Amino acid sequence: MKALVLGGGGREHAIAWKIRQSWDCDAVFAMPGNPGTAQLGKNLAGNPGDFIQVRQAVLDNSIDIVVVGPEEPLVKGLRDRFEEDPALKGVMFVGPGSAGAALEGSKQFAKEFMRRHGIPTAAFGSFTSDRIAEAKDFLKSLKPPYVLKADGLAGGKGVLICSSLEEAFSELEQMLGGKFGKASSTVVIEEFLSGIEVSVFILTDGKSYLLLPEAKDYKRIGDGDTGLNTGGMGAVSPVPFVDEEFKGKVAGRIIEPTLKGLSEEGIPYNGFIFLGLMNCGGDPYVIEYNVRMGDPETEAVMTRIDSDLLSHLCACAKGTLGEEKLEISDEAALTVMCVSGGYPGSYPKGKAITGDPVLFSNSYSGPVKVFHSGTAESQEGILTTSGGRVLAVTANSPLEKSVKRTIEEGRSLAYGIAERISFEGKYFRKDIGLDIIRYTEEK
Ligand code: AMP
Ligand code: GLY
Repeated sequence: MKALVLGGGGREHAIAWKIRQSWDCDAVFAMPGNPGTAQLGKNLAGNPGDFIQVRQAVLDNSIDIVVVGPEEPLVKGLRDRFEEDPALKGVMFVGPGSAGAALEGSKQFAKEFMRRHGIPTAAFGSFTSDRIAEAKDFLKSLKPPYVLKADGLAGGKGVLICSSLEEAFSELEQMLGGKFGKASSTVVIEEFLSGIEVSVFILTDGKSYLLLPEAKDYKRIGDGDTGLNTGGMGAVSPVPFVDEEFKGKVAGRIIEPTLKGLSEEGIPYNGFIFLGLMNCGGDPYVIEYNVRMGDPETEAVMTRIDSDLLSHLCACAKGTLGEEKLEISDEAALTVMCVSGGYPGSYPKGKAITGDPVLFSNSYSGPVKVFHSGTAESQEGILTTSGGRVLAVTANSPLEKSVKRTIEEGRSLAYGIAERISFEGKYFRKDIGLDIIRYTEEK
């Protein structure tokens, strides 16, 4: 079977890596891919958001299954175009149509969907510029801090947390005035939830689902979760508080009503759902839905799946996921993201990357895997940086009774390799996993 993974980051490298291990995989392609996916198969030039280019790549390479990494092509209707095209009949597709992708593409839709189906989430109101006075009254009815969200996709920058009412008023006016273009012509205002965040992932065909390993993301640039927000600086899986009881609540209160709600509303869904959850005193609340996997969570999660991902993806596309069984390894995963100096602000590109041979190997069978996020190959064949987040170093360590020992082993392996990778300006957070040790010690 031939698989095409759309996207070109660490998430897509990790998905392609896992697909490549399937007994049924003859070839794995990526569009546009990166030097990491090139080690596993073939990269195809093109833009995942461009239906015509994707269609041509699928036909030219006799692709059997397309797996979409990022949300944007889905929100813009890539699947819908696929379904309308007779030449693509029979090609399996993992990722929802635009109606399902609205769970991520419109925060207002997602919040109203949760309200309709009784899914726990922060109280909210949504407002357009003709209702500024009402929006301000709603803000006044909340306690600080205040959470303002652009309704549409804003490249991960559309959420603002304001400590004072004055700041919230000012941000509200700027957002409705076009701070994020059309994406913020509607603004969702939410109650602030305090707790610990966790990323929970499912693969679903709309009827059944597989609960993938959960992960914790490290969003801010600085140690101790300080400084600017980033796409994610590291990940750890599993997350100790996600025990059977918590999973039961997530399944009963969130996943099942979500799937039932989609079905009742006539929205088919074949793909991943990433639930951004807040654990508020043992109860899960949905912060956001994403219609894709997380990055860098995927670089941790994929290394913990023992069963055949390609088989699960095909079943997801065909609607037979109920017959699949997910097997999860008895190892933990810890990912450290090496980023370019300056990220998440401006940063240079094209810096030569050198270092540990694991970086250049395509076997990735040892306890440490290096997934490429923002890398490129120069004309001379030299590996260089090409993005803010450059390499995701993932280590697997045996899941011991002692969370501390498990994490310490993962940290020692991951940081051991991260230290041995060099490029000018390289930066990584030093504290990945330490909060989990602290949390379990406090318990
Ligand atoms: P989102 O893009 O919706 O995931 O929001 C980005 C980040 O803002 C989340 O990962 C949370 O850390 C934070 N956040 C969003 N909504 C809330 C909320 N209602 N309460 C507390 N924090 C929030
Ligand atoms: N790491 C968070 C995300 O992918 O949205």
